[in-house]
Amino acid sequence: MTSQVTRVLSVASECAPLVKTGGLADVAGALPAALAPLGVEMRTLLPGYPQVIKELKAAQLVAQFHDLFGGSARVLAATAAGLDLLVLDAPHLYDRGAGIYLNEDGLDWSDNAQRFAALSRIASEIANGALTDWQPDVLHCHDWQAGLAPYYLAKSDAANRVRSVITVHNMAFQGLTSVEALEQLEIDETDFTSDGVEYFGKISALKAGLVYADNLTTVSPTYAEELMTPDFGMGLDGVMRARRADLSGILNGIDETIWSPVTDPEIRPYKTPRGKASNKQLLRDEFGLPTSDGPLCVVVSRLTDQKGLDLLLEALPALLERGGQLALLGSGDPALEKAYLAAAEQPNVAVRIGYDEALSHRMMAGGDAILVPSRFEPCGLTQLYGLRYGTLPVVALTGGLADTVIPASPATLARQVATGIQFHPVTAEALTNALGKLCDLYADAKLWAKLQRNAMAHPVGWEHSAQRYATLYSNLTTDPQ
Ligand code: ADP
Ligand code: GLC
Repeated sequence: MTSQVTRVLSVASECAPLVKTGGLADVAGALPAALAPLGVEMRTLLPGYPQVIKELKAAQLVAQFHDLFGGSARVLAATAAGLDLLVLDAPHLYDRGAGIYLNEDGLDWSDNAQRFAALSRIASEIANGALTDWQPDVLHCHDWQAGLAPYYLAKSDAANRVRSVITVHNMAFQGLTSVEALEQLEIDETDFTSDGVEYFGKISALKAGLVYADNLTTVSPTYAEELMTPDFGMGLDGVMRARRADLSGILNGIDETIWSPVTDPEIRPYKTPRGKASNKQLLRDEFGLPTSDGPLCVVVSRLTDQKGLDLLLEALPALLERGGQLALLGSGDPALEKAYLAAAEQPNVAVRIGYDEALSHRMMAGGDAILVPSRFEPCGLTQLYGLRYGTLPVVALTGGLADTVIPASPATLARQVATGIQFHPVTAEALTNALGKLCDLYADAKLWAKLQRNAMAHPVGWEHSAQRYATLYSNLTTDPQ
């Protein structure tokens, strides 16, 4: 018999607002509240990083493990920031400074494979009933850090095994480690094959998830298709094609209680595009930008090859020539950071290297356009914030960017549905053309205001996608094994 409530254990290595390096945290943090009205009781299993442990309220010890990859560990049940959490407190794995994935020198922690295999191992134990008062109906794993959980679960001999789903937020990160770690990670040698966990001679935690989970999702329909192609599958396109029947793309939403121009405490609130003007002035002042006739473009991004921001450096002179401006907030690749700081020597370019959540809100409110020239983008969230704030997205035609922005064309303009600009292929030349188009549209104030209104009316919340996850969980619990 199916109970009315579906209990889901979500397993992630980051979760906003407690610990975040990118969009995965936003999604893991938003899903529980989005799913609660649909009868899904979601608890989130997180590593016990110091910044998580210190936020826990009313923590209760619910399980203990004497030897978890070299040390003792316990699971704490607690709430924090409105989230219902299970936290894996394992100081030998998580109690350290620097980053959650990277050490002081910006390199991966050398034991990352063990750190996240441990998270996955405990996820599978909880799925198998390790907690006395709560057992999930479905195990929902996110990215490579939780990739081994479906493997451990599939290998356990539990009767009535809980079903698992893995969501790929980014195929570029696969959790690769040397074959020597097989025994330590408790992976059966016989599973180290090309249709098991082996990836070109290494162990791939992500591949383990893709092979052993009952169901696969990714964060946009277009990325789901792209993942089955050699250009985007990062060597795992064959696995994705083999699992086509179990794969779907469910678009991310944004948390509209956090991202709303009407209630955002970081900005001068506004309901219509007209309200953006004072925010734009404040943003220019904050960045030390002069007034100018062209659009103020903003970028909030990790600075990595994925994001295509090297192309923007090439396209920048043409934007500036048309009176456009750029304000960029980001961090990452040292060479890109350096190049942007050098570009900021120009009067109409301003750059902040670092991570600043509050500033990112002010940029959404004050910018005219948000630029996302990614080479690949599983979903992307900043273009969604842009839509919500009437800050028109200029995006590459790929992944979730293709699924969320309706490009301005004679037909979409006539039907009043256009919300931004898309370009293809992802080259500096195509981006330059797109920025030229942006300047043309911006110069027509009436048309621009219409586009802004279309953008602000475009649905970007979780409702639709939450329903899809709820249906997926319910199908998984009712399907015969
Ligand atoms: P990804 O997860 O690939 O980095 P997304 O667009 O899905 O890309 O999510 C990125 C998230 O991180 C967004 O919430 C974005 O606002 C935030 N972000 C990225 N860089 C910064 C930064 N330097 N300062 C503040 N927020 C940032
Ligand atoms: C990844 C992707 C990004 C996506 C995010 C949340 O980090 O790069 O496109 O929006 O995960 O799913």
